[in-house]
Amino acid sequence: MKTEILSINSSSLAAAVDVIKNNGLVAFPTETVYGLGGCAFSDEAISKIFQAKGRPGDNPLIAHVCEGYDINQLVEIEHQYVYDLIEAFCPGPLTLVCKSRGTVSSLVSCGLDTLAVRIPAHKGAQQFLNAVNCPIAAPSANTSKHVSPVSAQHVFDDLEGKIPMILDGGRCIGGIESTVLDVTSLSPRILRSGLITQGMISAVVGSCEYAQHKDGDKVKSPGVKYSHYTPYCQTAYYGREDIAASINEYNKAVMSGKKPVFLCDDKIQGMLCDYNTISLGGTSEEYARNVYNALREAEKKYDTIIGIEVRGDNQIDVGVLNRFIKACSKK
Ligand code: TXA
Ligand code: MG
Repeated sequence: MKTEILSINSSSLAAAVDVIKNNGLVAFPTETVYGLGGCAFSDEAISKIFQAKGRPGDNPLIAHVCEGYDINQLVEIEHQYVYDLIEAFCPGPLTLVCKSRGTVSSLVSCGLDTLAVRIPAHKGAQQFLNAVNCPIAAPSANTSKHVSPVSAQHVFDDLEGKIPMILDGGRCIGGIESTVLDVTSLSPRILRSGLITQGMISAVVGSCEYAQHKDGDKVKSPGVKYSHYTPYCQTAYYGREDIAASINEYNKAVMSGKKPVFLCDDKIQGMLCDYNTISLGGTSEEYARNVYNALREAEKKYDTIIGIEVRGDNQIDVGVLNRFIKACSKK
């Protein structure tokens, strides 16, 4: 199958509608990462998503809808605070896990009685969702377990030949996946951290906890049990206090004929002038925007990635470090 990268206009949107109506897949931009979308009512389309990504069959998908769509058609909103969250953060990088009405394909939620819904804010995503006029089930548009894609080229690099079309909306400005929030209980629980932080949610609702995942628990968000965000090369990770040890690791890599690179923030980059470095930037928002792009650039140009803890000034760091540490944990 030939994979086309198309800029978003009336003719590419018409072509995308055609693909979706025929149970095919379209990759599209959002403000977080690129999604791999198929009609949420179609078993055939959802099966293709799992197949194209090589995704484990028990990791459920998010249903994306356009602004103004009545999500009560898909889910039951059981608590008043959910409307306050929608008012405050939607459209945007927030995914709400609600009680499902069972209207979409059962493959979307992998048999769970909940459904994750999100209203993306990206203009191109909205144009696509409006044009197709149906809820779109979409995971991130990467090969399962690889680093998430934040450009059309990243999607192409992973899924060329497996999908017909990528709508190109440029680099994603958010850069890490949406906050996944379980809103089926009296107060919300964060299943995956993201750009909508615990503090932002608490300010609206009054309280918000991180879900605790203990061994042996029934996993509330199946995605968390899988390894994620892994570059196709050797990796290692160090805290900011362990720069000396990280340099040691770098030098050892060079001695054994490898081509290492440090991934770090602007401050640490300033201290590592004699080494290969890629900076994620200087603020929490920049780290989020750049982390996946930097990991993908690093795996292309180098063969050993040494991550050094980044530190910004707000809770977005929780989401960034969650990805960065997983991506760079020792391999
Ligand atoms: O920003 C994003 O969320 C991107 C863009 C494309 O919207 N999508 C994304 O999808 O990151 P994915 O499939 O890579 O991650 C979805 C996460 C997984 O951890 C999954 O386990 C969780 O959401 N999830 C989906 N449905 C769920 C449900 N019913 N209950 C609990 N967790 C759910
Ligand atoms: Mg993903």
